[in-house]
Amino acid sequence: MTDTSNPSSSNGASSGPPMLEVAGLDARYGEIQVLRDITFNVPTGDVVVILGANGAGKTTTLRSICNMVTCSGAINLDGQDISRKNTADIVNLGVAHVPQGRGTFPELSVLDNLEVGGYVRKDSLDDDIDRWFQMFPRLKERKDQLAGSLSGGEQQMLAVARALMSRPKLVLLDEPSLGLAPLIIEDLFNTFRELNQESGVTMLLVEQNANLALDIAQHGYVLEAGEIVLDGPADVLKNDPAVQDAYLGA
Ligand SMILES: Nc1ncnc2c1ncn2[C@@H]1O[C@H](COP(=O)(O)OP(=O)(O)OP(=O)(O)O)[C@@H](O)[C@H]1O
Ligand SMILES: [Mg+2]
Repeated sequence: MTDTSNPSSSNGASSGPPMLEVAGLDARYGEIQVLRDITFNVPTGDVVVILGANGAGKTTTLRSICNMVTCSGAINLDGQDISRKNTADIVNLGVAHVPQGRGTFPELSVLDNLEVGGYVRKDSLDDDIDRWFQMFPRLKERKDQLAGSLSGGEQQMLAVARALMSRPKLVLLDEPSLGLAPLIIEDLFNTFRELNQESGVTMLLVEQNANLALDIAQHGYVLEAGEIVLDGPADVLKNDPAVQDAYLGA
């Protein structure tokens, strides 16, 4: 593993305290250990991607941050130890998780899903709802439709919008491109880039779609069988022959 102490130093990105620091993370399901000594940082204001094949442990990594699996190790959010906090407290501290697959409430309408997403906030949600409807006009057209009857792509858009309604400090995105058509994926990733650049939202993205993910990220880590085997600035990883072979279809 290469140096992970200051992932953004090589590309001039933010130099503030890391939004997320994970060190020596182990995670298990029953007897089976699936993460071994994972260490990575997400600098404030950056997009960091974790690449890995099926079963590598990407989802488990995000679930560990939210304390949804049995795990041990250091997890700090904005300098605060969150490793022993419960999931609801972690959400209240500003972490939004867009889980793999369906991150919506299927029995609620599109509009209700967005309102539920903003429940931790005390201020008015109207401006944010307008913003998301502008960004995803398909959701606006379907605002009274039940989320469970949206298409897969529409549900993915709603899952992202719902998570961002809480105005999180850190967004955890679990394979947002899964099952979406290439043009929709491109739109979605452009939206992520815009959010990161214009609103400064820090993002930790796990993906198998390395090309687009490395385009919007500053730094990447490669996870194999529960261990980080490689990391580096996104542009360096993009040109790494091992990454090209495994994830870029080279
Ligand atoms: N609830 C569970 N109980 C037992 N084993 C599990 C559980 N969830 C995941 N695993 C196992 O842990 C390993 C890591 O799974 P994880 O879901 O983190 O992989 P992933 O990198 O997200 O894969 P994918 O790209 O397919 O989503 C896999 O071998 C998986 O079978
Ligand atoms: Mg997964």
